Amino acid sequence: MSSVPTYTLNNGVKIPAIGLGGAAGRDEKEKEKARVWFLTALQAGYRHIDVAQIYGTEEALGKAIRESGVPREEIFITTKLPPSHHTRVAESFQESLDNLGLDYVDLYLIHFPFGLAYEKGVNFPTNPDGTPKVVDSPTFVETWADVEKLLDTGKVRAIGVSNFSVKNLEILLKSAKVVPTANQVELHPYLAQSDLVEYSKSKGIVTTAYTPTGYQTVLSDPTIAELADKYGVSPAQIVLAWHVARGVVAVPKSSNKERQKQNIALPTLEPSDVARISSLDKGERVCNKPDADGKFFGITKEQLGW
Ligand SMILES: NC(=O)c1ccc[n+]([C@@H]2O[C@H](COP(=O)([O-])OP(=O)(O)OC[C@H]3O[C@@H](n4cnc5c(N)ncnc54)[C@H](OP(=O)(O)O)[C@@H]3O)[C@@H](O)[C@H]2O)c1
Repeated sequence: MSSVPTYTLNNGVKIPAIGLGGAAGRDEKEKEKARVWFLTALQAGYRHIDVAQIYGTEEALGKAIRESGVPREEIFITTKLPPSHHTRVAESFQESLDNLGLDYVDLYLIHFPFGLAYEKGVNFPTNPDGTPKVVDSPTFVETWADVEKLLDTGKVRAIGVSNFSVKNLEILLKSAKVVPTANQVELHPYLAQSDLVEYSKSKGIVTTAYTPTGYQTVLSDPTIAELADKYGVSPAQIVLAWHVARGVVAVPKSSNKERQKQNIALPTLEPSDVARISSLDKGERVCNKPDADGKFFGITKEQLGW
């Protein structure tokens, strides 16, 4: 069992390969409870935590950090720009810092490549017919230019994107002054995203896996179960070890002390086992799936490059 490795981003900033996922669902009480499991994670040795303004857990994370006594500079914190805040990047970034009660974050991501209309206090504004209020402007290229400007504030150490495909990274890279350091996407053995991982590596972009366990859909796969027996670990440890073997960052969420500990104690997989797990790929999304109309957040699969 080895400790969590650290990768170096394209600007020299170091990121621990495993971070704690910080989404707590939509229930307000669950968001408040997050303070407790952020704290147990920090006590267990996590030094990377992934939140987003739309998760509503930034405040809980700030409290847990202060309560933990772990020096701020030892912790890598990611947060994200809400899809409905693309017209107000600087303001939204400052709101996140205020929620966290911190004076800088380590990584700031555009949460989603496409924007929604801004409505104060509403994460996902909808039209009267219930469809998302998608807006054409600004484009993600324009939003990225505003995110780049945040680097001048000295309040963010690295910037990146989330939910970008090869298609949209290619568009972004044509005009970006700063190459994103990271791209956070759904990634697990049933959605191995090998083309995206390889393309990103070739451009110096680290890929971060969200929904890295693939939930029970992946954890109950017979090959994963067989490898868990072989290495004497849990199925989740096998899947997380596979991410690390591929040079991918993973942000598993667990509110359970024991599973938090498991997720940062990973075996080193033999290359043939890494390849076996990669071959389970079926291009299957288990978290962010398109609706029956083939759209996600009102955006077509073609626009998303899915
Ligand atoms: N950028 C984006 O658009 C985006 C989208 C989705 C998620 N994310 C990020 O990714 C993080 C994780 O995503 P996720 O919650 O969808 O997926 P996940 O971390 O793969 O799965 C979380 C689920 O797995 C369980 N679990 C965790 N460790 C386990 C273990 N060792 N054995 C068995 N079950 C285990 C957790 O239960 P317990 O808590 O009970 O342990 C929880 O039900 C989020 O918190 C968020 O930070 C980002």
